[in-house]
Amino acid sequence: MADEDHIEALLARLSRAQKLALVRGATDPEGTATGYLSGVDEAGIPPFRLVDGPLGIRAEGHRATAFPASIATAATFDTDLARRQGAAMGREAMALGQDALLAPGVNVIRVPQCGRNFEYLSEDPVHAGTVGAGLIDGIQSADVVATVKHFVANNQETHRTTVSAEVDERTLRELYLPPFRSAVDAGVGSVMTAYNRVNGTHMSDHERLVGDVLKGQWGFDGYIVSDWYGLESTVGAANAGLDVEMPGVAAPGTAEAGDSDTADDEEFEWPDGIPDATRAGLFGDPLAEAIDSGQVPADRLDDMARRVLGQMDRFGRLDGSRTASEDGESDDEAGEIDSQRHRDIASDVAARGTVLLDNDGVLPLADGADVAVIGPNIDEPKLGGGGSSETTPVHSVSPAEGIESRAEGAVTTAFGVPQIESVSLFDLLPFVGDDDADGTAADSDRRDPSLEDAVDAAAAADVAVVFVRDATTEARDRESLELPGRQDELVSAVAAANENTVVVVRSGGPVELPWREEVAAIIEQWYPGQADGDAAATVLYGDRDPSGRLPVTFAPESQYPTAGAERRYPGVDEQAHYDQGVFVGYRHFDDAEVDPTYPFGHGHSYATFEYGDAEPTAEQTVAVAVENVADRPGREVVQAYVRPPSVEDADRPVRELAGFAAVQLDAGERQTVTLTLDDLAFSRYASDSGWTVDSGTYTIEIGRSSRDIRTTVTVDR
Ligand code: BGC
Repeated sequence: MADEDHIEALLARLSRAQKLALVRGATDPEGTATGYLSGVDEAGIPPFRLVDGPLGIRAEGHRATAFPASIATAATFDTDLARRQGAAMGREAMALGQDALLAPGVNVIRVPQCGRNFEYLSEDPVHAGTVGAGLIDGIQSADVVATVKHFVANNQETHRTTVSAEVDERTLRELYLPPFRSAVDAGVGSVMTAYNRVNGTHMSDHERLVGDVLKGQWGFDGYIVSDWYGLESTVGAANAGLDVEMPGVAAPGTAEAGDSDTADDEEFEWPDGIPDATRAGLFGDPLAEAIDSGQVPADRLDDMARRVLGQMDRFGRLDGSRTASEDGESDDEAGEIDSQRHRDIASDVAARGTVLLDNDGVLPLADGADVAVIGPNIDEPKLGGGGSSETTPVHSVSPAEGIESRAEGAVTTAFGVPQIESVSLFDLLPFVGDDDADGTAADSDRRDPSLEDAVDAAAAADVAVVFVRDATTEARDRESLELPGRQDELVSAVAAANENTVVVVRSGGPVELPWREEVAAIIEQWYPGQADGDAAATVLYGDRDPSGRLPVTFAPESQYPTAGAERRYPGVDEQAHYDQGVFVGYRHFDDAEVDPTYPFGHGHSYATFEYGDAEPTAEQTVAVAVENVADRPGREVVQAYVRPPSVEDADRPVRELAGFAAVQLDAGERQTVTLTLDDLAFSRYASDSGWTVDSGTYTIEIGRSSRDIRTTVTVDR
């Protein structure tokens, strides 16, 4: 904990200019950080570096472990594994001289085509909050500040810097705010505000949500940082409660692109989704002037600086006591990068987050099967999506390499159709040079793919495994949920040639699978990161159970509540109306009584589990025995949902996730799993009276997914 007396003594010695240096970003002389505070050398306050996140460390000029996309981490439903991933990322940040990690992103997935869904965790707030808290706990166990982002209602990339989320209080409280609340309860050191507005007010200026709710009602005592070039005003932000401006300096090279002093400024238009990267310095001289004129109280600057110093002190930056220790495993101040254990964690998350959507029995593959590995990108790992989360690994495995090294039978390969090119936010920036974080310069000319070759390879093999992918990036939403290019055509052609066709999907969120009935098995691997091909092979051959479960509902685009409703998405006149209220994700599909393609929480295992009767063991806990009745080990994700009593005038979801637990069971093993039920699932928020738990009988449903309930028990409240 921060030593308050020490910080007060330090603050008392700082001049105003020195305090200002603690709340406005500057240029990193080493050039590695995403954001940099220069510190105050004379007062013994060291520089402080903030770095992206959340799929690994994006320190300029350095490689680091490329972990799977956050949505894959969430699909593990394994909070302990999320914690271990967080700790590994913390140690890597430390090794690269960074002090704060700009992760995790916990925005609830509202729009299926949002370009950043891969960086987020879930369509459910309890799930996002629990996994997010695991990541935060891990990052901070390595003495690195975690930064939960983007606060709040940043649920689309289209018009992200201008759109206003028009959202009612109940929906904010029940759906969009809770993952941030969980982060605060987990002790997160920093919160990043979003680019968008909420009910008309820009989030960096949002006194009610930032000042009253986050700092006031929730008691958040860390620092609040703007998104990059996301500060709208000096006085509004300072008085709302924002503490640190980032990056504080205009992007290098923006003079030609958009500097207001240049002659061609009028011609330059920042692309949609890209903030004006010349807007910087609002917490510099303008803040000093606002304090002089009395528009911002002088003690607000003290509070800003105190909050930054508080986190520096808490994580050992003021007295040099920082360590990267995790439960005493390592106390090496140098941190740790690309170590074997970090590679193993990246691989564990990729395999455990893999979801077996369908399987008619073709999987797991026989060791000696002859396999045709097909797909336009089988020679490239799918590291992540585009944008600030791009991480460049030291080591990675492509799908073809992964299968080739595991297979005992013959392996043939074919691209089939033209390569799917990665897209990146950085390609939209006129002042940024070529960035090739995927390590795979798009070069369609080096290939001459032939559909016929792919069909021939499939026909000659025992099994055809087709790898398909989408291409998403920060700053852009997907245009549709269809797979890009000619991949659907490829899958159908291969499936017609070989009845044992397995499709491995790599996507940042839900995609449409029109050939679903034509193939023998479908696996969803999200963006698996550096372990890609190895993780795919371990699951395909059954060395590991595919224990991922869906953190988002998969359905045709037309069935989502934002479909065909421009007002809801992407919005009209810069307003996106969240008038589907809390009926987002499975809450919508349950309410509308629509059967999605694959429901929230869905995922098969190679093992088979039987559930005993659920029993409440305390006010907030329920226990259930789960037995693996298969002849092989497996990993089950036990999920608990709450169905509320019906109450007049309260339009509540049919069911809400209250808790979950992942359990590894050997063949024949039986374990009692105890689930803690989150209060959120029992409560509702009424605009006039606040949080209420209605009296009545609640049904606790325990099962394998939101639509596969195995046992129920009732509790009275
Ligand atoms: C993103 C943030 C990121 C920041 C720094 C912004 O464009 O929205 O998530 O941390 O850039 O790279």
